[in-house]
Amino acid sequence: MSHSILVVGCGSIGERHLRCFQRTGRAVVAACEPNPTLRERMARDYGVEAFASLDDALAGRRFNGVVVATPAHTHLELAAKAIARGGAVLIEKPLSTTTTGVVAFIQQAQRSGLFAAVAYVYHAVPGVQALRHELRSGALGKPLHVTVTAGQHFPTFRPAYREIYYTRHETGGGAIQDALTHLVNAVEWLVGPATRVYAEAAHQCLEGVRVEDTVCVAARHGDVLASYALNQFQAPNEIVLHVHCEGGSLAYEHHAQRWGRFARGAGGWEWQAAPIAERDTLFIAQANTFLDGIEGKPTPLATLEEAAQTLRFNLAALESAHEARAVVVKAGSDPV
Ligand SMILES: NC(=O)c1ccc[n+]([C@@H]2O[C@H](COP(=O)([O-])OP(=O)(O)OC[C@H]3O[C@@H](n4cnc5c(N)ncnc54)[C@H](O)[C@@H]3O)[C@@H](O)[C@H]2O)c1
Repeated sequence: MSHSILVVGCGSIGERHLRCFQRTGRAVVAACEPNPTLRERMARDYGVEAFASLDDALAGRRFNGVVVATPAHTHLELAAKAIARGGAVLIEKPLSTTTTGVVAFIQQAQRSGLFAAVAYVYHAVPGVQALRHELRSGALGKPLHVTVTAGQHFPTFRPAYREIYYTRHETGGGAIQDALTHLVNAVEWLVGPATRVYAEAAHQCLEGVRVEDTVCVAARHGDVLASYALNQFQAPNEIVLHVHCEGGSLAYEHHAQRWGRFARGAGGWEWQAAPIAERDTLFIAQANTFLDGIEGKPTPLATLEEAAQTLRFNLAALESAHEARAVVVKAGSDPV
């Protein structure tokens, strides 16, 4: 079955989505991008139809899937329009930058019966999926403690960081909403929702911005304690995630493309390869799971409710860092 997919916002991640949906071989893709230079390049390089606005794109056409890849403060409005016109939605992370309108949007999506998910891409990462499988099997008993250490040199991967959404919290910027959110969502997927957070966050290094590029978090996910350490200036591009359970530990090392299991009493880690051939591989896998979702098949993608929970974590972490106190992550209490 060939799907018609519209990618809204063809900046850094939108172009990747466009290319990766094409690479599924299951979709005819179109682009929507207000910047004329970018729009023309999408049309030329990928041979796609390209529109200047979502209203233009939806005026005479129906897309059965819409990927919202614009800055986070615009996600809900664009996704609501797409759903109103009969399109399933895959929304980039974070779901939004405030809780305003989140409940109303989720209700709209539920009433429509259309598939809707959020592109927290760790749900498509084989090593993270393996940890989830292990945890759900219960073989190592209850998870008790999670540690995450992560970082990269953001300017190397995103040279334009001073000109994009990253510069302001209001548009989804800073380490908490931009990078930590991925890891917290992944941990929530593994051990359950975060319930309380104490965050220290500061601008330590990146030139030309004032938002935090470094964050240390002590959190609770219900009965599970978690600590996160992340910065966006270190030289190594590394993520190490450990889940320590009653009967042993699990590890995921993103940079080493492997996951491991260390049962209590064993002599050491038993490592399994979890290869990711290239960065597009994850996004092609994610695109395929979105198309599966449209077709009514089960998918590992983050649900709107899960993404709303991680959004509440983001806001609680920002509040905690600002006020220097622990903040409860309120479950499901957003204003409509
Ligand atoms: N999953 C990931 O690994 C990942 C990586 C990068 C960014 N992101 C997320 O993706 C989103 C976009 O990030 P980016 O790095 O691609 O930003 P970007 O600035 O490179 O691109 C955003 C694009 O959206 C366009 N745009 C803005 N308003 C629009 C509108 N109303 N209609 C149509 N297009 C509009 C802009 O012209 C721009 O080209 C953010 O929410 C970000 O957090 C996710």
